[in-house]
Parts: sequence; C-alpha cells; structure tokens
Amino acid sequence: MSKEFRHVIYDADGATLRVIDQRYLPTRVRWFTVYDADTAYRAIRKMIVRGAPLIGVTGAFGFAFEVRIRDMMGEDVNADEIADHITSARPTAVNLPNAISRVLSAYMKGGWREALREAIRIMEYEEESSYKIGIYGSELLEDGDVVLTHCNAGALATVKYGTALAPVRVAMEKGKLIHVIATETRPVLQGARLTTFELVKDGIDTTLISDTMVGYAMYKGLVDKVIVGADRVLADGHVFNKIGTYQVAILAKKHGIPFYVALPISTLDLKGTVEDVIIEERDPNEVLYVRGRRIAARGVHVLNPAFDVTPPEYVTALITDRGIIRPPFRMALSDLVRGNV
Ligand code: MRU
Repeated sequence: MSKEFRHVIYDADGATLRVIDQRYLPTRVRWFTVYDADTAYRAIRKMIVRGAPLIGVTGAFGFAFEVRIRDMMGEDVNADEIADHITSARPTAVNLPNAISRVLSAYMKGGWREALREAIRIMEYEEESSYKIGIYGSELLEDGDVVLTHCNAGALATVKYGTALAPVRVAMEKGKLIHVIATETRPVLQGARLTTFELVKDGIDTTLISDTMVGYAMYKGLVDKVIVGADRVLADGHVFNKIGTYQVAILAKKHGIPFYVALPISTLDLKGTVEDVIIEERDPNEVLYVRGRRIAARGVHVLNPAFDVTPPEYVTALITDRGIIRPPFRMALSDLVRGNV
C-alpha cells in the first residue's frame, strides 16, 4: 500500500499495538487497541485483524504486553498459560503458534523486555519478508499480465506489501502493468472488502468477481497467473489457505494457468501432516447472513470451514522470502530453511 498508509502501529510509550479494525473496511476506518493477552485474543478471534502473518504479530505483542503488565504489578506469570490462551484464538495459520513460541522462549531467557524485543523483531521480519516475496515474485510476472488472487493476502494480511499482492506491487514499481482479478471470497468477503480496498487505494487496476466466476474467467482466457497466500504450508507442499483456494487451483491446472503460492518462512510447518492440521470451523451466521442481512431459510444446516487444503500437484511454485521453490517441494523446502538455497 502507499508508503504513508499504516494499519499496524506499535506505540512503545503506551505499550500498545494499534490496528485497523478490518471488520469495518472498506466503508469505515476504525482502530482497535491491543494492550494485553485478552485484547490480542479478541482481535484475532473476531477477525479484527486477520491474515496469517498479521495474527502472528498481534499475538506476539499481546503476549509481550501481558507478561510486562504482570511483571510490573509483581504478579506471578504463568507464561505457558498466556501463550496457550492467545494461540487458541485461531487454529489453522501456523504463524500464530510460531510467533508465540518465539516470544515465549524470549521471555524465558530475558523476561518481558526480551519478549517485547522479539515481538518487534517478528513485526520487522514480516515487513521485510513481504518485500522480498515481492522482489522474487515480480520476476514471474510479465508486463500486461492479469493475476487472479483469492481472499486478501495483501498489506492488510501482513504488516506491509502483503504476500500474494507483493509481487504485483513490486512488478508495478518496476514499470510492468499488472491487472488484478479479485474473488469476493465468501463468506467473510476479504476479497471484495479488503483486496479491492487496498488495490484501488494504490491505483492498481482491479476487477472484482464472485467466487463462482473463476471457471468462466479462466475458460474465457482472462487470467494469466494465479497468486494466493497461505496460512500453513507443509514440508511436502500441501497448502492450507482460505476456503475456495483448492477449487481455484484445480481450475488453474485444468486451464494450464500457473498457480503460485506466496509465503514467508514463518508460514512453514515442516513437522505437521495434513491430518494434524485443524481447519477452523467458524460461526454459521457468516454463511447465513451477508453484511447483517439473512439470506437463507431458517432451519437449514451450515458448513463453514474457514480454510481448505490444496495438494502440491496443483502448485506451480512457492514464492518465498528466500526465493522461488519449485516441485518436488520436500527437499527444496528443507534446503531453504537450512539456508542452502
Ligand atoms: O480467515 P483469514 O482472513 O485470516 O484468512 C486469510 C487467508 O487465508 C490468507 O490468504 C492467508 O492468511 C495469507 S495472508 C498473507
């Protein structure tokens, strides 16, 4: 997003993290203040903030603020309990437990000051890694490309730039003209509300489609490339991301369109298996209502998984902050993490 626009502000004096409450976008800009574990939990659980990297950052600050308050008041600190509480806010994106385990071990080593320093490092890392994803990913884009993206994996899902949208931003900076097709992303409408908000704000030409139009758009030859973000990527390349990603991937393969997944290293889970990952099941009202208006008959059953899993055979490449990774992913990812790439 434009250089001045910030939606996450750490206030060192007040010991707070101010975030834009994304539930009100794009029509209203309202702020929410995270100042302890409970406010961090609420911000993440209620999707005031969302997107894998941003919930990691928010959780890390919530932990650091909480242990600071308790230390300063001379209270006993059960750091594991605080960590578990924040981590339980949302189960699928691995950035949250990854960030919480970093601040927890920093606290064990050096108390609340070290935990706070670690939270700041996590925030700085997420900003830098997004830009690097942009640099690497922009090489995959050609002047005139139309990029389809799903959900919001932009600046609003991270600290700045985004993951899926970072390559688009950097390609534009390099003088390439990129057009984005954003899916609306039912039920929470991150694409319609957030992706269009940030792209239009940046002057990036964007077309909004409903999720049901992806096949048609691809069939008509309107899409050159797909780039999505991720909430968790396993060692073998399985990608957990916003519900609907799987069907976009299948359609991309059917139409010979490259399907890229953009992620920072903090989104990798090299130990987990597909069976281990909990897919968050959210409130049925998200499906039953659209922006406060009921759209379905009373008495109907609802299924509302927030994420799905895309098998590696549908993924053309992973765009990471350490470079582009192509299949087979297992060896390439372990080399990447060990720093051999
Ligand atoms: O439920 P959300 O809005 O938190 O889901 C977000 C996504 O699925 C994003 O694609 C993912 O977190 C990548 S964000 C850079």
